[in-house]
Amino acid sequence: MSDSNVMGEHNITEPCTLVIFGVTGHLSRNKLLPALYHLEESKRLPKEVTIVGFGRRDWSNDEWAKEVKSEIKDHARGGLDDEVFARFSQRLNFQKGDLKDQASFVALKQRLDDSEIFPNNHIFYLAIRPQDYNFVNKNLVSSGLHNEDNGYCRLVVEKPFGHDLQSSEILDAQLHKNFREEQIYRIDHYLGKDTVQNILVFRFANLLLEPLWNRNYIDHVQITHAETAGVGGRAHYYDSAGALRDMIQSHLLQMLALVAMEPPAHLDANALRDEKVKVLRSVRPINRKSVNMHAFRAQYAAGEVNNDKVSGYLDEEGIDAESKTETFAGLKLYIDNWRWKGVPFYLRTGKRMKENNFLVSIRFKRPPQQLFKDTALKQMDPDWILINIQPEECLRFEMQVKKSGLELETKTSQLEACRCEGKEKIDAYEALLLEVMEGDQTLFLRYDEVSWAWKVIDPVLRSWMEEQDYIHTYPAGTWGPDVSSRLFDRNDQFWRNKLDHNDCDVS
Ligand code: BG6
Repeated sequence: MSDSNVMGEHNITEPCTLVIFGVTGHLSRNKLLPALYHLEESKRLPKEVTIVGFGRRDWSNDEWAKEVKSEIKDHARGGLDDEVFARFSQRLNFQKGDLKDQASFVALKQRLDDSEIFPNNHIFYLAIRPQDYNFVNKNLVSSGLHNEDNGYCRLVVEKPFGHDLQSSEILDAQLHKNFREEQIYRIDHYLGKDTVQNILVFRFANLLLEPLWNRNYIDHVQITHAETAGVGGRAHYYDSAGALRDMIQSHLLQMLALVAMEPPAHLDANALRDEKVKVLRSVRPINRKSVNMHAFRAQYAAGEVNNDKVSGYLDEEGIDAESKTETFAGLKLYIDNWRWKGVPFYLRTGKRMKENNFLVSIRFKRPPQQLFKDTALKQMDPDWILINIQPEECLRFEMQVKKSGLELETKTSQLEACRCEGKEKIDAYEALLLEVMEGDQTLFLRYDEVSWAWKVIDPVLRSWMEEQDYIHTYPAGTWGPDVSSRLFDRNDQFWRNKLDHNDCDVS
């Protein structure tokens, strides 16, 4: 395993067979197969890893390999290398089958029984809709594929885990009937991102931050995820999910937990997850009456993104013309614990926004005494810590300094913790696939994390489901509707859109 994972100890990767269900789907084509190819290219994929694609097509191994090649051509960093792909294609095996058909799983089992080709350790990756998990779950059991007599059996499941709290509990109970928690790897791919892991290093390896990291010094925290893309080819999924489920329930609440958590006792999987759960449990519940004060939703209308005209959400292929599904969601949360009592956390995500950006912005309070209030300075800008997850990977401290010269004038100056090691980037899915092979669950979600995250957003989901008359809109290619700033507690708070201070929505 690479040395980029700050949290796990490096275990030995045993030979394994990785079976992907949903191999022709969006996730497999755009993320999993390119990630596996890149691991092959960087020689990180252990030699004895065999990949099985399970799907309904009538493909031979070679035909599937050809499909895979054409799919990943556009994703390969620096272009597809024929020699690497030839090596990679040796690992690819296609197994025709239907998720709902038990006989298909019996056939899969028979094939995998040939341990000369397929190592006995099995990883089953469910790159399918959560509604179909239970078919796979049952069929793995009835065909004996869940059996761990000759090797391990691990299950990888994607987000969203369920559709709401109740469905996620049912799903979890179904999985736990046949699989132990240690066998279940719930993915939140943001935890595989290097900068996200760097948040822990930043917080817990730098003593100077600790005394400041609390309600005494921090005014508020913002977590913004903006993307220029629309719903792409995922209309069916997205229209039934919406931004709150798709991004906030998972990625943004994980980010909030990492920013707000107490230092864990150890860096093992459970100690870290215990601390994240404590944060999620301390989030003040949003009651139904206060949903409008705490949550905001909107949908993109036609507009221009990167100088291209794009259609509105309702005109996207596969979207119901009456849909009230939100493509922008904002949430104000309070964490009722000793460290954060009274500090608002503002979370916001949107599709078809002006730029791609994932930024955690932490704003400090103003100094207690306005020493410069009778000078030309009057009120100075507050200090910020900015953690840019993407596109730039950057940690920045913004502070006030005096401009040189005779006048008493200040400017905002930046202190940047740069990570310019010149190492190649590794995609989150590459890191996470290796972690599953190594059996390290640190970067995966335990069920109680998922469940507490659903508890946070469930009242909002229910209220939005009932109120289907109206939804705000914003032109594609903007930072979302101005009225989303109604979430702020005070009028000196405003959205930080990007690292650059000049691009703020000061209202
Ligand atoms: C996924 C969401 O989990 O994350 C997508 O389902 C979203 O809608 C994506 O586009 C964003 O991930 P990234 O890594 O591209 O920021």
